[in-house]
Amino acid sequence: AGEIKLPPKDWSFDGVFGTFDPAALQRGLQVFKNVCSACHGLDFVAFRNLAALGYDDDQIKKIAADFQVQDGPNDQGEMFMRPAVPSDRWPSPFANEQAARVANGGALPPDLSLMAKARAGGPTYIYNLIGEGFVEPPAGVEVTPGKYYNKYFPGHMISMPPPLSEGVVEYADGTKATVPQMAEDVSTFLMWAAEPNLIARKRMGIKVILFLIVLTGLLYAVKRRVWSDVA
Ligand code: HEM
Repeated sequence: AGEIKLPPKDWSFDGVFGTFDPAALQRGLQVFKNVCSACHGLDFVAFRNLAALGYDDDQIKKIAADFQVQDGPNDQGEMFMRPAVPSDRWPSPFANEQAARVANGGALPPDLSLMAKARAGGPTYIYNLIGEGFVEPPAGVEVTPGKYYNKYFPGHMISMPPPLSEGVVEYADGTKATVPQMAEDVSTFLMWAAEPNLIARKRMGIKVILFLIVLTGLLYAVKRRVWSDVA
């Protein structure tokens, strides 16, 4: 298939001073919840972690309660399903891998917790895959039944149907839900899911560098002082 070149994309969280746009994170959560979570889970994100996106306890309880998780065994030794609570992790909608494959033509929708770190290009790959990638196949290319042509998926035949179409979510903040907008927001959200401490880490890096600069100056001054009377 050859190397697939991703069009470059700028992100608010790029660079030393990068930061997550809180509004984009909340919109991304909306897209993930309303669209992607029909097939994908977030194994490493507990609902209570959404507090970092600015939701309060009641809002988090409501979001969690829309999902079912397996619990048990109960007194009869049976496993059972119950609505999720804030301490639960974002579940996959399928009972197990077999059920997931049956529902997806044999393919397994991967957990998306670390997807923004797992593929070359990271969030730019996700953005292009879901935002720009689903196009008409080039002339002469036959799409395997049950698969979809995607410009940016390695091999081009993907088992994921195009998840986004204009207006599939209605943004709480009134932003127009175009496909590129939703793709950008959900990619930002998935970057946060994969690296929730990204911004804290960058801030710490800046502080460390500033500290080292000051320390270098101090040590230099001390060295001059200590050696000042040596001819
Ligand atoms: C695979 C993202 C919605 C089914 C993937 C991959 C990503 C992704 C990043 C991995 C591609 C790779 O392996 O390189 C998303 C996002 C969604 C979304 C961000 C929401 C906007 C859905 C929905 C379904 C679905 C709604 C089910 C109807 C699948 C399947 C695969 C997959 C079956 C495996 C594809 C294959 O290996 O051929 N998705 N997805 N996804 N997704 Fe989604």
